[in-house]
Amino acid sequence: MQKFGSRVVLVGLSIVASVALTACNVEGFFTKLQDDPVWVDPNAAAAAAAGTADAGGPGKAVYGRICAACHLGSGKGVPGNNIPALAGSALATGDAGKPIGIVLHGFRGPIERNGVQINGQMAAWKDQLSDQEIADVLTYVRSAFGNAGAAVTADEVKTVREATATRTQPFTEAELP
Ligand code: HEC
Repeated sequence: MQKFGSRVVLVGLSIVASVALTACNVEGFFTKLQDDPVWVDPNAAAAAAAGTADAGGPGKAVYGRICAACHLGSGKGVPGNNIPALAGSALATGDAGKPIGIVLHGFRGPIERNGVQINGQMAAWKDQLSDQEIADVLTYVRSAFGNAGAAVTADEVKTVREATATRTQPFTEAELP
């Protein structure tokens, strides 16, 4: 009985330890207000009302609703927690077929970004997001955070969606279209 009891204590301790570690990671990372996914740019509403380029177009709303939870409002991700930055990402801003494929079907590591080993997994969004929403969010990602990639159209997303329709697993970097 005593043996059994100490096992329970050990399991309990390791759960407490891993929860504490996770909390540390998260707390340590959000050192700046802008990095907090729930941070709201106080100028955004005014910019949207004025219809300026700062508004980020319709993709900014999709980004804030879905992508920012992991890649953060700043686009910097949490590389130490297996979430790559979209700011300055060659993959996000290069040939549009690749980021379209990632958002449709998901993406999994291992990858290396800026010298950091990342081995995470991003889920597929093909069933939740329309061609237009994926085009909008990628147009936003490719022009926000200091990025300078061309806009993505709903037609481009439709083409990749059709060409990869039988896919059921997230892409690895080598498999991307
Ligand atoms: C639940 C967390 C999560 C969400 C939500 C998420 N991603 Fe990701 N994303 C990841 C992870 C993790 C990876 C890296 C996977 C790996 O290869 O290890 C990634 C990788 C990427 C990459 C590749 C970047 C590079 O340089 O390798 C792009 C582009 C991307 N995501 C775009 C998006 C967009 C756009 C959205 C919103 C529609 C989004 N992600 C939502 C977790 C997420």
